Amino acid sequence: KIKACIFDLDGVIVDTAKFHYIAWKELADEMGFEFTVEDNERLKGVSRMTSLDILLSIGKVNKSEDEKLALATRKNENYLTYILKMGPEEILPGTKAFLDTLKEEGVRIALGSASKNAMTILERLKLTNYFEAIIDGTKVSKAKPDPEVFLKAAEALGVQPDNCVVFEDAEAGVEAALSGGMKCVGIGKADVLGKAHLIIDGLHQMNMQKLYALNEK
Ligand code: G6P
Ligand code: MG
Repeated sequence: KIKACIFDLDGVIVDTAKFHYIAWKELADEMGFEFTVEDNERLKGVSRMTSLDILLSIGKVNKSEDEKLALATRKNENYLTYILKMGPEEILPGTKAFLDTLKEEGVRIALGSASKNAMTILERLKLTNYFEAIIDGTKVSKAKPDPEVFLKAAEALGVQPDNCVVFEDAEAGVEAALSGGMKCVGIGKADVLGKAHLIIDGLHQMNMQKLYALNEK
């Protein structure tokens, strides 16, 4: 029986990928190589330092650990200038309605995100209060596809993993949910999220009937 929903943040509740892209591209421009929107797909759901490693591998650039830390810090400062301009209008369609329905139905709500900026983003969107537990990039040591982030969220809620549904837009996130023994709703395309129990375009397509149908999967 489904008792809790655990939401990824970036790409599920808000489209921050466009800001991540601009901020990473600025570093690529400086280092003199091309970084495309398609390349950016590879950074979804991936931690900040791993994203940097992927970016550097795309440009075939080598950097020392100190240089990498400086680059990641600069990228984040740039990213934050965009994040801090966001408001509730950036919440993806259907999110609030679905969260309200979950509350009414007594389904518990948690966040499971790789981002260290999750708290800042939720505050900007004025969504913090919906989440009973918030597990973000500051609270985990193992990145998705490791299930740590979702298992910690379930534990914080006091709900068994098999009573949880995870909402994810990244392949690594779907894998994390499944290896944690949870149900998973993929947000996006079937070619990327094929292993999810249900695939939808966005939370505007979600409802209680579809949620409880996952009990049978
Ligand atoms: C999410 C995004 C990734 C991002 C990661 C870390 O998983 O999908 O693209 O790299 O969070 O974000 P942060 O805000 O900590 O740099
Ligand atoms: Mg995501």
